[in-house]
Amino acid sequence: MCGIVGYIGFRESQPILLEGLKKLEYRGYDSAGIAVFTEQGLEVTKTVGRLVNLENRLTGEPLRGTVGIGHTRWATHGKPSDLNSHPHTDNSLKFSVVHNGIIENYLELKEELMMAGHQFLSETDTEVISHLISVEYEGDIVKAVQRAVKKMRGAFALGVLTEHEPDRLVAVRYASPLIIGVGEGEKYIASDIPAILEHTRDIYILNDGEMAVLTREGVELLTIEGNFITKEIFHVDWDLMTAEKAGFDHFMLKEIHEQPKAYRDTMRGRISEDGRSVVLPELKITAEQLKGINRVHIVACGTALHAGLVGKNVIENLVRIPVETDVASEYRYRSPIITPDTLVIVVSQSGETADTLAALREAQRCGARVLAITNVVGSSVAREADDVIITLAGPEIAVASTKAYSSQLIAFFLFGLYWAQTIGSKNESEVAHVLAAMQALPEQVEKVLAQAEVIKGVAESISHHSSLFFIGRGIDYAVAMEGSLKLKEISYIHSEAYAAGELKHGTLALIEEGTPVIALLTQEDVYEKMLSNIKETKARGADVLGIINEGHEVEVAKSVDRQFAIPRTLPLLTPALSVVPLQLLSYYASLALGHDVDKPRNLAKSVTVE
Ligand code: G6P
Repeated sequence: MCGIVGYIGFRESQPILLEGLKKLEYRGYDSAGIAVFTEQGLEVTKTVGRLVNLENRLTGEPLRGTVGIGHTRWATHGKPSDLNSHPHTDNSLKFSVVHNGIIENYLELKEELMMAGHQFLSETDTEVISHLISVEYEGDIVKAVQRAVKKMRGAFALGVLTEHEPDRLVAVRYASPLIIGVGEGEKYIASDIPAILEHTRDIYILNDGEMAVLTREGVELLTIEGNFITKEIFHVDWDLMTAEKAGFDHFMLKEIHEQPKAYRDTMRGRISEDGRSVVLPELKITAEQLKGINRVHIVACGTALHAGLVGKNVIENLVRIPVETDVASEYRYRSPIITPDTLVIVVSQSGETADTLAALREAQRCGARVLAITNVVGSSVAREADDVIITLAGPEIAVASTKAYSSQLIAFFLFGLYWAQTIGSKNESEVAHVLAAMQALPEQVEKVLAQAEVIKGVAESISHHSSLFFIGRGIDYAVAMEGSLKLKEISYIHSEAYAAGELKHGTLALIEEGTPVIALLTQEDVYEKMLSNIKETKARGADVLGIINEGHEVEVAKSVDRQFAIPRTLPLLTPALSVVPLQLLSYYASLALGHDVDKPRNLAKSVTVE
């Protein structure tokens, strides 16, 4: 995820910026840069790759000055490259900006600016901001920033410098975190506490729509409308490790809690302003080509494959085209039937999984068009696929995937709807109906997360068992598979996911007194059938946790031992909610057993060998 650091004070800024960026390295990045006021003016050094590349460049030619901004970039718009790295400047080179977030309307703004003669060097949305501010500048950087942000839609945390006012550093927050650090004669900005923790523990936490004007002497806080505000200083008493995890005990828990943001970010700019259609300008596949597709293969590994299982349900439901899912390591050796009318969708968080990449190449060799759903811009999968939908989950650090999986679901929802609207398998109001439900998901996930304690209790009790079952029907079965994998990955408790109706064809024999069964029953059309399947397990002594829809509590209580209700959404979208209690269940079970949650044994985050 992108990181921001800024400094204004009496010490050399370069080492402070570089040290601060290093403290944000754990968040993941692909390029870095700094801008400093030197005697020559506002100077920028930036480079693709690790921070050490930037340091090497700066060793020969250090940027000397006591005011500067720095950035580590995690690519979202435009590949990782020197030119796409931050800070970005305007054409006069007098304004410099670092930015975290996404400007949804940057293409519109860029076009307007280009018509007015502006030249752009990068593919980023951020470069537009520096140009906008330069256009709005009439002698007061604060007013210029306020006017510029009014034209921007999306999410942004900004650090802004201008050569015209070298004693001011302006910071803005809108839907992307930013804090202000307060020291004696020196002030800081940062996207995250670890970046400045060694210098100060006194911070202001900006809220959405707030900005700060930093000088060496003080900090002025105001809204982006220009109204002055006051805030209490927050004194940080965390150590560095706690700060890196934003106060959570593990990265996995932090990432589970980041899902509402990941959903919002993945949807951002991809739903028309009237909420009636999906906009995916990144897709090169034409409407004609999409109309010609008559079968889909979804190919991936591990958790990404499980997202694909949900994707199959989504595409078949919305588009009514047959979809097969395949394990990537099997796909290319089983001589799959791939025709030019096949769309192959590869799903990969890292975009570097060897088996997935090999499947992609095999599909292209056979003449299929490949769409990639991946979390990493510039990854091998993203580069080689014909079309790419980037999930905007941000870097995932815990080995067990959570927010990347659920953002992949959002990508499937968006793509399924896009396809449906293109070929007319769903009409405009049907698409709008699903989109409205999707936009409610982030808040609904927050509601689920607020009940984490309920799951913690269940997790502690199941942690004593050596075997359990996850059951569900339809799309619930796909989620059951992910729940089971998550539990195995980090708690090492054996579990199996079963299509609930299939249980009695053998596996029921394994259910004995006290065997935990996690039953998903969110699909109304098979609700009664699920209740019967649960009864079959109860009759053999199972201890059942039901993951149910709100409203069914009283009725389900007769059939299950414990229950967890998720907010109501459309049946097709339930995986984006029902997976959350399952993630929490595996997290707390692993915790209860004293395992290394973030780095489970024998597993790697990215598997680049066959
Ligand atoms: C490894 C990881 C899994 C992940 C899988 C696919 O096996 O341990 O958590 O789901 O790779 O990774 P990808 O980056 O392609 O999604």
